[in-house]
Formats: sequence, C-alpha cells, structure tokens
Amino acid sequence: MADQEVYRGLKGVTVDVTEASFIDGEAGKLLYRGYNIHDLAEHSTFEETTYLLWHGKLPTRRELEHFDSQLRVSRTLPPEILEIIRLIKSAHPMDVLRTAVSALAAFDPDVNDNSFEANIRKGIRLTAQFPTIVAAHARIREGKEPVPPNPNLGHAANFLYMLHGKEPDEVSARALDVDLILHAEHGSNASAFSVRVTASTLADMHAAIVAGIGTLKGPLHGGAAEAVMAMVKEIGKPENAEAYVKKALAEGKRIMGFGHRVYKTEDPRARHLRKLAKEMGERMGQPEWYQILTKVEEAMAPLREKGIYVNVDFYSGSVYYLLGIPEDLFVPIFAMSRISGWVTQVLEQWKDNVIIRPLLKYVGPMDLPYVPIDQRVEAA
Ligand SMILES: CC(C)(COP(=O)(O)OP(=O)(O)OC[C@H]1O[C@@H](n2cnc3c(N)ncnc32)[C@H](O)[C@@H]1OP(=O)(O)O)[C@@H](O)C(=O)NCCC(=O)NCCS
Repeated sequence: MADQEVYRGLKGVTVDVTEASFIDGEAGKLLYRGYNIHDLAEHSTFEETTYLLWHGKLPTRRELEHFDSQLRVSRTLPPEILEIIRLIKSAHPMDVLRTAVSALAAFDPDVNDNSFEANIRKGIRLTAQFPTIVAAHARIREGKEPVPPNPNLGHAANFLYMLHGKEPDEVSARALDVDLILHAEHGSNASAFSVRVTASTLADMHAAIVAGIGTLKGPLHGGAAEAVMAMVKEIGKPENAEAYVKKALAEGKRIMGFGHRVYKTEDPRARHLRKLAKEMGERMGQPEWYQILTKVEEAMAPLREKGIYVNVDFYSGSVYYLLGIPEDLFVPIFAMSRISGWVTQVLEQWKDNVIIRPLLKYVGPMDLPYVPIDQRVEAA
C-alpha cells in the first residue's frame, strides 16, 4: 500500500464514460450530445436542450410541445413548500432551494420509483419547480407575495415574470434562455460528480439533486459570477480597470471569471455571454459594466500565455445584473440550469450503475496502544 498513488482533487482522473457532453479544453469546444454549444445557444431553447440531454436526440415538434407542456403544468409548488420557504426566508437562497427540493420528495408520487420513465417525470417536475422556488423566496423575503407561474410563458420568461411580477420583454427572456442553455451540462464538474456519487448508491433522484445543490453552493464552483460583479462594482469606471488588475496580480490575487480547470483557451460559452452583456448594457442605458469588463479582459491579456482566459462566469454576472436579478440569486440561477445536466447524469449513472467508492491513502500513526481514560494526560 505504501506505493499507492494519490490523485488529489481527482485532477486528471477519468472516472467513467459519458454521452452527455464533450469538452475539448485545448480547442475551446463544447458539445451536448454531439451538438455544438454555439448552435444550441443560437437556435435552441432551454426546454429543447433539456430534452436533448435527457433523451439523447433533438425532439420533433410534437415531442417538444408535449415536453414543454409538461414543464408548464408542473411549475406550481405544493402550499406546504411555500410554507417552508416562509419559515426559512432569511436563509441564503441556495439553502432555501436545497431545503425545498428535499421537502418536495415527500410530495412526489414517484419518489421511490427509479425507473427511466419515473426519473423523467421527476426531472420535469424538479426542473419546472426550481424557478418557482427561487422566485417565491426572493419575493417572500422582501415582504411580497409570490407570483403564481404563468403557463403562457416559456421557462426563462416565466422565471423573470415570477421574480419581478411583470412579463419580461423578448430580449430579456431570450438572454436568460441562452444563459440557461450555456450552463446546462458540463461533464464531471464537482456538483455533477456528487450527484453521481449519491445516485450510485441507488438513493433516489431527489437525494442526488439535493447533493448537487449543496455542492454547487461553494464559491469555487457556482459563486464566481457573483464575485465578478462585486469586482466590477469595486472598479467603478473603465479607466480604473487596468490599474486594478495590475495591483491585484502584483499582490498575488486571482481575477474572478478567468482561468478554468479544463479550458486552456477561451471558454466557448463566454462568447455568447459577452455578446449578451454588450447588447443588454446598451439597451438598458448602462454600457459601463460591459466597458469595465472589456478593460479587465484587455488587462488580463498577458496571462493568455499561461492559458488563462475568460470563463463562463466573467460576463454572466453582468447579464443577470442587467436583468434586475439580485446578486445572491446568481448561484440559484446556475442551479436552475444545471438541474438539466444533473438529471442527465443520474439517468446515465443508472443505465449501468457502479457504486462510486474511491480510496484514501492512510498517512496517520499505526498500532497505537489503547490508553485507559484515567491514564490520559490533559493537554496543557
Ligand atoms: C478556475 C480555477 C480554480 C482553475 O484552477 P487550476 O486549473 O487549478 O489552475 P491553477 O490554480 O493551477 O492556476 C495556474 C496558474 O494560473 C494562475 N491563475 C489561474 N487562475 C487565475 C486567475 N483567475 N487570475 C490570475 N491568475 C490565475 C495561477 O495563479 C497559476 O499561476 P502560476 O502557475 O504562476 O502559479 C482558477 O483559474 C481560478 O481560481 N479562477 C478564478 C475563479 C473562477 O473564475 N472560477 C470559475 C471557474 S468556471
């Protein structure tokens, strides 16, 4: 056992095969089920992309209409869940989401049915209910009543409607829709991996999704978009950006929204978010956020030779901000999208399950004598 190799953080370890997404970190390429993320961002919707991820093929018009109508009728929360949200309204939105999803298991007729069909039904309900939970909590904590879902609106538009109490314009709804497509699935990232670990014990869909939400909460995974927006506000004006970046780098700090474990060139998802950040800023009469971001990107150019480029989070924070979304909802919005990938990976794990149970190399003392309690010496 002494020569046991240790791969801390499972860096570079391939744990299984997948048909869900392909990532080429050197070329900056991302495919969902074989389809390029650029085509999906330009032509698809979150609903269609979710169907693609779960079923492995693009839906026909009839299949998509059926899937979409199931999502629309599944948005309403049981009143007990709204009661729970009211009871814990001062908690972080990710904690509220985690608790509400855990409680939803008690109301789900399929909770103990792990068949493919039941998992699709549960996936639809959870995907439909995530935005309702996030929006209801955001309003309740402000002393407002939740806005019931509007079945005439698409998934992204309905979330903005439930959050703000008024229908969004088409450009805003499409901006969020594209953002949800871009964040839907990304291989064996930390939250998807914990979803798989939980599923691999043959626990249920809700247990696996709760594990994913818990893992996504951490700032090293879901929290970078929020940190980018905080940085942009601190920078304040485009002309301050270069000095800010130089000072931060000289102090050995990291600039949030740059660098990626897998991408060593520009994250392909950033292209679409950059465009949206620019368009949204101009439309809203707030071009300064985009201007600051581009100045930061220019100041970071020397780090490209180390493979440090913008990642998906660099421009997404400003898009959310311009959509009037409070900063602590940025991570729950990531969850509203990634539920699609989490369900995909539960389905994939259960197609050919093996319990995920790696090893730890023991480096502690060996064979110590057991000392009776009255002979143990208190530390000074
Ligand atoms: C995402 C991240 C954790 C990837 O880390 P990683 O693959 O383990 O890369 P490393 O931490 O080994 O970094 C490699 C080098 O690039 C530098 N670097 C990495 N990210 C950097 C950043 N955001 N700003 C400045 N320098 C950075 C490191 O300091 C290191 O430099 P060195 O070789 O001179 O020591 C890292 O890039 C990071 O912390 N980024 C900021 C947070 C963020 O945006 N997260 C969202 C990811 S989608």
